[in-house]
Amino acid sequence: MVDRRRSASRSRARRRRKYQTVAREAPPNFVADLQRLRDWPSMRGSLWRRASLVKLTHAPNARLLTGSIKGRNLKILDVGCGTGCISLELSRMRHDVLGLDRNERMIEIATRTKKTSNSGSGKLQYETADFDKWSGTTGAYDVVIFSRVLHDLPDPENALLKAHRLLKSRGRNSLSRIRVQHDG
Ligand SMILES: C[S@@+](CC[C@H](N)C(=O)[O-])C[C@H]1O[C@@H](n2cnc3c(N)ncnc32)[C@H](O)[C@@H]1O
Repeated sequence: MVDRRRSASRSRARRRRKYQTVAREAPPNFVADLQRLRDWPSMRGSLWRRASLVKLTHAPNARLLTGSIKGRNLKILDVGCGTGCISLELSRMRHDVLGLDRNERMIEIATRTKKTSNSGSGKLQYETADFDKWSGTTGAYDVVIFSRVLHDLPDPENALLKAHRLLKSRGRNSLSRIRVQHDG
């Protein structure tokens, strides 16, 4: 049991280092916009290095998520939004989105992408924060998304309980839900 916990914690640390490398490798003009794909050869540790790789990975993942969200002008929290490519697509669908990520560089990339892209009429905001320590407003969101993030959190069960508190109650909004996307 202790061994399993140690190995999970080592994997999380490895992934954290990987995100830091990806963020460091991103050139100053890099934008993570699925509708303006191009090759970024210097980003060797990232799928963004080749547009064709993004088309096979991030793009279908974003389509799956955005396609499963029904309703109009929803308030969406995107936990661990990374470069913000999913948040951006959701705002293009006219939802109001808050993207959270603990990695400051990811939020810088997401913010730059937002500034240089057509972000649609939904409100799109980003914040650097660790979800475990972040105190959002209870009952404020229609949808909370965890896309490829849950495995990074030391206590995923607690994170889901927290997400549940952040969601509008069923009584007030039947669209309340948690989106969980997990790629191990
Ligand atoms: C694999 S990336 C996924 C990015 C995006 N959700 C996507 O699907 O393209 C995981 C992201 O979660 C962020 N992250 C991990 N733990 C976090 C936490 N406790 N609070 C906020 N962000 C976190 C990492 O910094 C990283 O940017």
